[in-house]
Amino acid sequence: MSKPLEAMKVTDKVYWVGAIDWAIREFHGYATQRGTTYNAFLVMADKVTLVDTVKAPFRREMMSRIASVVDPKKIEILISNHSEMDHSGSLPETIREVEPEKVYASAKGAETLDAHFGLGGRVEAGKDGQTLNLGNMNVTFLETKMLHWPDSMVSYVAEEQVLFSQDAFGQHLATCEMWADTVARDVLLYEAAKYYANIILPFSPMVSKTVAKLRGLNLPLKVIAPDHGPLYRKDLGWIVDLYAEWAAQKPTAKAIVVYDTMWQSDAVMAKAAAEGLAEGGAQPVKVFPMGSAHRSDVATEILDAGAILLGSPTINQQMFPTMADVLCYLEGLKRKNLVGAAFGSYGWSGGAVKRLTDALERMGVQIVADPVSVNYVPTDEALQECRALGRKVAQANLARLGE
Ligand code: FEO
Repeated sequence: MSKPLEAMKVTDKVYWVGAIDWAIREFHGYATQRGTTYNAFLVMADKVTLVDTVKAPFRREMMSRIASVVDPKKIEILISNHSEMDHSGSLPETIREVEPEKVYASAKGAETLDAHFGLGGRVEAGKDGQTLNLGNMNVTFLETKMLHWPDSMVSYVAEEQVLFSQDAFGQHLATCEMWADTVARDVLLYEAAKYYANIILPFSPMVSKTVAKLRGLNLPLKVIAPDHGPLYRKDLGWIVDLYAEWAAQKPTAKAIVVYDTMWQSDAVMAKAAAEGLAEGGAQPVKVFPMGSAHRSDVATEILDAGAILLGSPTINQQMFPTMADVLCYLEGLKRKNLVGAAFGSYGWSGGAVKRLTDALERMGVQIVADPVSVNYVPTDEALQECRALGRKVAQANLARLGE
């Protein structure tokens, strides 16, 4: 008989009892090429406590891991740090099965969980800074509103020096490795950046405040345990420092070109513009043809960029639909402090370049060069204009960086 899925030990009294989703490739618009985990944690205090649950289809996996440590019926306290359904989807069924004495969330969390599942007031509202006694241990709730939902909070168990940080500091990375320091650093950094760019970026002002709040509390910490991906146990400061850096949204010399093409005119214009960016000093330059690139990979690269060029053919007076998709997504992510410009081709009516320019304005990008617009197919002269456009944008970016 095979062994059931088991818990993994985080500290003496804390266990990982989550689920690994090796299959997921799409997470509300975000391409999760490396899958993800839904982390839940069992605190073996006098009052056995479960922190967060998992996405609904993974509940049996979580229960199996819990049962490898303790009879699930012995769970007395259930804490929901975040109401989004990848963490709360199995909450109602878990409450029914476990019958905990108390279920806690933030005040907004209690409201949101009720709105999702109609729990009829079963969830109690914890207060920011409230410490709950678990017998031989204590758990403190710290609200992190809008990081990344209004209900978001983190929980800290002082005796084990563990911070359960919900989505903050997470990555969509399916792995059997529980610790971040055993995962290849380049993979970890990329996935942490991708997670920040696609989930956390619009809430950067709150990240700055939360990082300052956490640093001010100076909590003794052995482990930061997010709700996705591996946990941090060594050099805990580096991921917090990275969050502070990403939240500042400082521009760099990096430039990206985002385009699509109908009959290759915009593809050659994009190449010329990219070469112009490099000539102008942009470093690195990354090019995203939206016929094959994914919006969430563009978002990842924009996180530490300084300049953006957009290109599109005109179709029925509009920009190409793939460009509308990525720009709708980027506009929502609200990356600040970019400079940029637009280019495009048209047959008779035109329209794409104007719409790209409008999109840049809505995104708050400082437009530093007039657009290049080409009728049907670019001539050699038009390609020189695209090159010059790239140079001008790169130079404008470097000038404000003082380089
Ligand atoms: Fe992992 Fe906001 O849910």
